[in-house]
Amino acid sequence: MSRRPLLVVILAAGQGTRMKSAWPKVLHKIAGRSMLGHVLAVAQQLGADALSVVVGPDMEAVRAEALAWAPQARVWVQTQQRGTADALLAAREALARHSGDVLVLYADTPLLSAVTLEKLRARLDGGAGIAVLGFEAADPAGYGRLLIDEGGWLRAIREDKDASDEERRVRLCNSGVMAFRLEDVLGVLGRIGNANAKSEYYLTDAVEIARANGTRAGVVTCTEDEVLGVNARDQLAAAEAIFQRRARLAAMREGATLIAPETVWLAYDTKIGRDVVIEPNVFFGPGVTVEDGAEIRANCHIERAHIGRGARVGPFARLRPGAALGADAHVGNFVEVKNVTLGAGAKANHLSYLGDGSVGAGANIGAGTIFCNYDGFGKHRTEVGEGAFIGSNTSLVAPVKIGDGAYIGSGSVITKNVAADALALERSTQEERPGWAAKFRAMMAKRKAKAG
Ligand code: UD1
Ligand code: CA
Repeated sequence: MSRRPLLVVILAAGQGTRMKSAWPKVLHKIAGRSMLGHVLAVAQQLGADALSVVVGPDMEAVRAEALAWAPQARVWVQTQQRGTADALLAAREALARHSGDVLVLYADTPLLSAVTLEKLRARLDGGAGIAVLGFEAADPAGYGRLLIDEGGWLRAIREDKDASDEERRVRLCNSGVMAFRLEDVLGVLGRIGNANAKSEYYLTDAVEIARANGTRAGVVTCTEDEVLGVNARDQLAAAEAIFQRRARLAAMREGATLIAPETVWLAYDTKIGRDVVIEPNVFFGPGVTVEDGAEIRANCHIERAHIGRGARVGPFARLRPGAALGADAHVGNFVEVKNVTLGAGAKANHLSYLGDGSVGAGANIGAGTIFCNYDGFGKHRTEVGEGAFIGSNTSLVAPVKIGDGAYIGSGSVITKNVAADALALERSTQEERPGWAAKFRAMMAKRKAKAG
């Protein structure tokens, strides 16, 4: 396999007008990560030695996103969108500094796998100076066509608008992904002209020009799904669907049960252990780990959370950033947890808000408990000790600490710390008036009869 140094150049200068968005296209997300983030991730998986991203003018947000996923990346600005060859040349300094292989990717083609790209690169070891990733298009309209010679080498890439009727009948299409040996192609790039239907500098023309110099181009194919390009919102949804299908399948192959996989939404980084059972309609935002044997019941929303071994979540639970459930902890229906650690076996089974704090192992949080974490200005912590029992309908006004093994009487508003093993209650004494209700009813009935 090829061990020449690798430079990956990601083209992201297109504004993507068909998205009808205030945001550059490549910032739109699939499975919780921008398309650019997906492409940078696969580039890093390949072990790129250098990474360049080409952005348009006024795309500071794209630059920031690139550097967030790949701090080592160099970002270049293509001042005018004059075609894919011109875009690649925006990174000419990176090309000048490099020797070895170059891989060109589009930031709006986010579903490519590292395996396919490795295959493409390996093609450069088989006598080709250029390797192009192609696919059989169900509908080839709009794509560049790959024209193959008798020897099986790529003769030319013909853009749809420049193709003859016969060439248009070819269904083998250009994905846009191209790898090349820099020494074979560097001189060619400057010779690409724009005498074509779109008056653009086509990177695809490199194939024909290099061939005239004796550099051969080969084709590697993949499925159409993998090279789906996102130009509009319907394609964004299609790419999301493909990603989800793959991610669900991967989770099931790793030993999780998804009862209705098509209703479970995973993020790009969701980690799911073995013998995890996920019921229908569960949404995972980024940053979630689910340990072995945990059960997530129907209709939960979970992001940036950790779910321990054997824990039980839902139905109808919401785990927000910083929720961390220990082994066998339970978080039940209509419970919201944010930035709270629950120790092993702790339970909050019904109708609660737990925000900013900790709950010790084995503690029981009664129905309707609220951690009053916010005073309108700052956030404060509530700490509930191990084995503590919080009665139903309790407000814990933070900052506050409940000691290990303490009991809180239900209906209390707790504003002061409670010692370990104490009972705290805050409510008025119960009063009882014997026979009052019967007398009241009789009086009211008489009054109503008189009035009627
Ligand atoms: C390109 C290919 C075509 C292929 C198709 C696959 C060329 C000439 N054609 O056509 O063979 O079938 O992709 O989708 O390469 N970009 C820039 N700067 C530019 C122009 C483009 O950064 O000046 C970026 C775009 O943001 C986009 C990518 O390059 O991510 C492709 O550009 P686009 O204009 O969409 O190319 P197509 O006409 O679709
Ligand atoms: Ca009260």
